[in-house]
Amino acid sequence: MASRSFRLVTVLAALATAPGALAAPAKGPRASTKHSFKVNLAPLPPSEKAAWSHAPYEAGDCSICHVNADPKKPGPVAKAGNDLCYSCHEEFQEVMARKYKHPPATESCLNCHNPHNSKEKKLLVAELGTLCKDCHRQIKDLAEKSKVKHGALDQGEKCANCHNPHGANIEKLLIQLPFDLCVNCHSVDNMKDHNGVTLTNFKKWLQENKVWHAPVAAKDCSACHRTHGGENFRLLVAEYPAKFYAPYDPKNYALCYGCHNEKVVSVPETKTLTNFRDGTRNLHYVHVNKPDRGRTCRACHEVHASKQPHHIRDGVPYGPKGWILKINYTKTPTGGQCAKTCHETKSYVNRPAAGGPAKR
Ligand code: HEC
Ligand code: HEC
Ligand code: HEC
Ligand code: HEC
Ligand code: HEC
Ligand code: HEC
Ligand code: HEC
Ligand code: HEC
Ligand code: HEC
Repeated sequence: MASRSFRLVTVLAALATAPGALAAPAKGPRASTKHSFKVNLAPLPPSEKAAWSHAPYEAGDCSICHVNADPKKPGPVAKAGNDLCYSCHEEFQEVMARKYKHPPATESCLNCHNPHNSKEKKLLVAELGTLCKDCHRQIKDLAEKSKVKHGALDQGEKCANCHNPHGANIEKLLIQLPFDLCVNCHSVDNMKDHNGVTLTNFKKWLQENKVWHAPVAAKDCSACHRTHGGENFRLLVAEYPAKFYAPYDPKNYALCYGCHNEKVVSVPETKTLTNFRDGTRNLHYVHVNKPDRGRTCRACHEVHASKQPHHIRDGVPYGPKGWILKINYTKTPTGGQCAKTCHETKSYVNRPAAGGPAKR
């Protein structure tokens, strides 16, 4: 138990100090403050039909910002740098005084905004996702080339669903703590993944299931998931089987074995490695360790949160339509029991009854 917790601490520490290293398969250049495209700061010619126009530009008086009122010769701007913008957008001085500042915004608001008009909303010089990914090439690769993509990056405000492009009080320019971001968006009943499978309403699930798995209780969804895209099922940081049955191979469970001892499943007989045993017969081995149809951990465990101890689930989605197979697990004074599920009622004994030694 102690060594497992130690592993968790190590994993969390690694994530805290080097999230970039874990999130990105390849080392790419750091973001530069330079765009790959030429930023056009002039008003769009009427032929290009700007969809959005800045209120002071719309007013028609160029001298609101330039030294001259004449649209043909507005001349230079009257105030240098971001101070021109702050003269009306006062609140942005506070935003830019936050603990974490976005370097391109400190440098110049014009890295991202056209001061006159634009085809893009919020006067952006390019479509929001393209704009961010133009400087953040590593994230661009994750978002576009990963096998499993995360819808959070494509819908709504895209990157700005989670990041403030100007400044923030949370590191990585996050608008909320990561756990709150995840749970607040995953808080609807009808969210579907790319294959049309309905996803869990995590806000509700975590409220209704009080036994939280340690990394969830530590509010660290990233201990297991990659936010921007990944190579594994469900954006997981390491391999985990996608189905109810899978042939047993420890590498398919790299996710769990990153923190738990593989011997929980690989050793047929034990008195110490697992409590899911009947006497010395390792029932993890019996259920999971099969060359063809081994049951995956999800057959019994709900990895986020459950009502039962040991993260035993009440029911498990079985078959392609997700029909729920009830588990009916009960913890008993000497072990546990499953009733009318995959098999008739079966119990296991892993400790002596009060006052006597274990029978098996
Ligand atoms: C809200 C402030 C604002 C208003 C109003 C405004 N401009 Fe500008 N304009 C700027 C800023 C900021 C720049 C970039 C200045 C720089 O970095 O040299 C600029 C640059 C320009 C440029 C040069 C672009 C380039 O490529 O260097 C032109 C042309 C221009 N403005 C035309 C106009 C005209 C015409 C009007 C009035 C119809 C106008 N502007 C009104 C803020 C404004
Ligand atoms: C003379 C005052 C004034 C100046 C100077 C000014 N703005 Fe604005 N800006 C406005 C007003 C007014 C609005 C509309 C506010 C609203 O709708 O709430 C606005 C809106 C915006 C918006 C939102 C547009 C949208 O579609 O929602 C952006 C982005 C913006 N300004 C950026 C800038 C930047 C960058 C500068 C400096 C180059 C700047 N502004 C300078 C007055 C100004
Ligand atoms: C790295 C790109 C980037 C830079 C640099 C940048 N912005 Fe923005 N800004 C954005 C994006 C993206 C949005 C839209 C955010 C959203 O949709 O939630 C935005 C939105 C805004 C808005 C509209 C806010 C609203 O609530 O509608 C204003 C005003 C604004 N920016 C002003 C500024 C000022 C002032 C600066 C310079 C201090 C600046 N921006 C620098 C990317 C940038
Ligand atoms: C003009 C280039 C440029 C653009 C556009 C840009 N960024 Fe950045 N961004 C940077 C630079 C430079 C840094 C400093 C850290 C670095 O080098 O990676 C940075 C840092 C960040 C960080 C913090 C990284 C850290 O390790 O703390 C985040 C998050 C971020 N940007 C998100 C965005 C988002 C979201 C957008 C689009 C709204 C965006 N960026 C657009 C250049 C850019
Ligand atoms: C669902 C929320 C979410 C969305 C959407 C999102 N990010 Fe992030 N981003 C995070 C979190 C959380 C981190 C902190 C490290 C981590 O967990 O990966 C982060 C970290 C970063 C970093 C710092 C480098 C790193 O890997 O730690 C950059 C740069 C960044 N994001 C850019 C972007 C860009 C660009 C987009 C849009 C293409 C985007 N993010 C969309 C949540 C998000
Ligand atoms: C802005 C809303 C939003 C935020 C914030 C958000 N997600 Fe998502 N997430 C989605 C949507 C929409 C989908 C479904 C589309 C898809 O498959 O990606 C999804 C899908 C997923 C999936 C399943 C992906 C698959 O295809 O198998 C996982 C896992 C996930 N999110 C985890 C997270 C984690 C962890 C966080 C916090 C770091 C988070 N999400 C934050 C909107 C969000
Ligand atoms: C200990 C590792 C672990 C942690 C921590 C974790 N997850 Fe998961 N997550 C998984 C595994 C494993 C799956 C696949 C479950 C399955 O298919 O049986 C999954 C699946 C998901 C899915 C897609 C399936 C669904 O039902 O919606 C979402 C969304 C998700 N997790 C969000 C989160 C959020 C939000 C957090 C933080 C509150 C989080 N996860 C924390 C391991 C983890
Ligand atoms: C980031 C580390 C981490 C990952 C990954 C992880 N766990 Fe855990 N898990 C823990 C910690 C820490 C505990 C609490 C201490 C303990 O019992 O080992 C725990 C406890 C458990 C328990 C309950 C122990 C009890 O008796 O109450 C089960 C069951 C469990 N994990 C299953 C899994 C499964 C299945 C996976 C893979 C899908 C997994 N874990 C992945 C860290 C992790
Ligand atoms: C057939 C159901 C079943 C399957 C499949 C299953 N477990 Fe368990 N597991 C249990 C039960 C029941 C317990 C609680 C034992 C007790 O304490 O009485 C448990 C306990 C645990 C514990 C707590 C420590 C221990 O071993 O007592 C961990 C960690 C764990 N399981 C991990 C896993 C992992 C990882 C997988 C997949 C590789 C898995 N389990 C598959 C039923 C299952």
